[in-house]
Amino acid sequence: MTDAAARLTPEVEADALLAVRGLHAWYGESHVLHGVDFEIGSGEVVTLLGRNGAGKTTTLKSIMGIIDARKGSIRFDGTELIGLPSNRIARLGLGFVPEERGIFASLSVEENLLLPPEVRPGGLSLETIYELFPNLRERLYSQGTKLSGGEQQMLAIARILRTGARLLLLDEPTEGLAPVIVQQIGRTIRRLKEQGFTILLVEQNFHFAATIADRHYIMEHGRVVDMMADADLSARQAELQAYLGV
Ligand SMILES: Nc1ncnc2c1ncn2[C@@H]1O[C@H](COP(=O)(O)OP(=O)(O)O)[C@@H](O)[C@H]1O
Ligand SMILES: [Mg+2]
Repeated sequence: MTDAAARLTPEVEADALLAVRGLHAWYGESHVLHGVDFEIGSGEVVTLLGRNGAGKTTTLKSIMGIIDARKGSIRFDGTELIGLPSNRIARLGLGFVPEERGIFASLSVEENLLLPPEVRPGGLSLETIYELFPNLRERLYSQGTKLSGGEQQMLAIARILRTGARLLLLDEPTEGLAPVIVQQIGRTIRRLKEQGFTILLVEQNFHFAATIADRHYIMEHGRVVDMMADADLSARQAELQAYLGV
């Protein structure tokens, strides 16, 4: 382990569900991730915070194998993901909700929920989904395009839960949503944590992140440069604001 990795990886090391070490990634010739180090323990909610362009989305896509020009190590529950294609990675139990949400606009809510294949046992039943997301039950026959931004986000998360994923990678789930909807998403994430899901959350909104995460990693220029426990966040507010430029 590099010194930086040692400094940034605390007690969860031994039983990390996901351990990212020295991760590099490229878009064509463009070298975007320069040795990303972090890890997540089973059942944790962890955020990646950082300015626009820091490499947060690229990190999620590299974990999922959507970007395959990657080097370093990404271990999930003991399996090395570097070199595996994205469909194999999904079958191990990783689910990605992209910023653009990726629901089928022309299909109804119900059709969107019936479509995802169960990639491993443990996918949530429709009943459980409706219990977690009561508004989706009310909108069952509405087309994707007719949903509000918040409902679309709920549907995007719900679809991933149908597949049996146990590590959820959420890319800016609250972006563009009204405060009351942001609170709903926060409640949903807390309930998922209670049920044992592990969540890696990319956020610009650190006020939101602070209410639900156990720890926060700060990314700058394609690297993780710092880690903050949620309990230390208020004491380190000035530092955090300097990192984020807010
Ligand atoms: N498809 C792409 N092709 C080339 N460069 C990209 C592409 N997507 C993102 N980048 C670049 O990679 C860097 C990291 O982007 P990204 O991971 O999207 O950052 P973040 O999610 O933190 O805002 C940025 O400099 C961005 O311009
Ligand atoms: Mg992004």
